[in-house]
Amino acid sequence: MQNKIAVITGASGGIGAATAKAFAQKGATVVLLARRGIELEAVKESIEKQGGKAFYYLADLSKPAEVQQAAEKIKASVGIPDIIVNNAGLGRWLAIDETSEAEAVEMMSLPYFAAFYTTRNFISEMIARGSGHIINITSPVGFIPIPGALAYGTARWAMAGFSKFLKADLRGTGIRVSLVVPGKVSSTYFGHNPGSEERIPAISNIFRTLTPEDVARRIVQVAMRGRGDSYLPLPIGLTVFTHRLFPGLIEWMMRATGWNRAKQPT
Ligand SMILES: NC(=O)c1ccc[n+]([C@@H]2O[C@H](COP(=O)([O-])OP(=O)(O)OC[C@H]3O[C@@H](n4cnc5c(N)ncnc54)[C@H](OP(=O)(O)O)[C@@H]3O)[C@@H](O)[C@H]2O)c1
Repeated sequence: MQNKIAVITGASGGIGAATAKAFAQKGATVVLLARRGIELEAVKESIEKQGGKAFYYLADLSKPAEVQQAAEKIKASVGIPDIIVNNAGLGRWLAIDETSEAEAVEMMSLPYFAAFYTTRNFISEMIARGSGHIINITSPVGFIPIPGALAYGTARWAMAGFSKFLKADLRGTGIRVSLVVPGKVSSTYFGHNPGSEERIPAISNIFRTLTPEDVARRIVQVAMRGRGDSYLPLPIGLTVFTHRLFPGLIEWMMRATGWNRAKQPT
């Protein structure tokens, strides 16, 4: 990772902050993007204390003009990224009648549109250079529909679709595209999105809860390998694969152990 530039979105906390630290430990120059300056400064300081090199830029990634401004500054002051990790995301787990129009739009803005805007702003220079790696983060809910998480899940399907279509678009350019799919992570996510954790189907308790550092290590491995998608922990990958073969079975398990409209207090 020496002499590589890694741009990480949503790097003020959770998976993004851990990923930035992991890339910096491998020698990459990291560029952090998010809205909260105090948290970004703390991540940058912690990287620099370990001898790493970090820059941060404030941007609300749901706003294309802010992403463009940040990208122009990054190109002028740091350079063209070798790696982009599209990680920033938010969203409460809610059923359709619980979700306002504004919240549905916000959930599609992050992660999907943020990933589109960020990638779009660097991709021409990356294509001209003929190298790079775009790593997109989604959730198993981006493959397996579960009840009570409609807009969150739809946006994660969009991320999975973005990754597949981007790979098709960029074939032959030298730019790799990967998707990383972690199961439940003990990040700040559930604090930021109250009520969501309670809706994870109980069957998922058989899977190990990951730390942000587990996911960060895997993202760096994918970057160093230079290609491929990755599911973690392994049983998550097996569940997604089994869903492809027997969708009815896995979806029944999610329904039977997940949020149930009929059982909600009126
Ligand atoms: N936690 C899990 O169990 C889990 C499992 C699978 C997949 N994922 C996915 O992984 C991604 C990261 O999750 P996490 O667990 O690290 O969540 P988190 O701890 O809540 O961190 C979310 C990050 O996204 C940034 N962000 C949110 N809205 C933003 C905006 N408008 N503009 C710029 N940055 C924004 C936040 O920064 P600011 O608030 O500073 O802007 C923060 O750095 C999400 O897409 C999530 O769905 C999470």
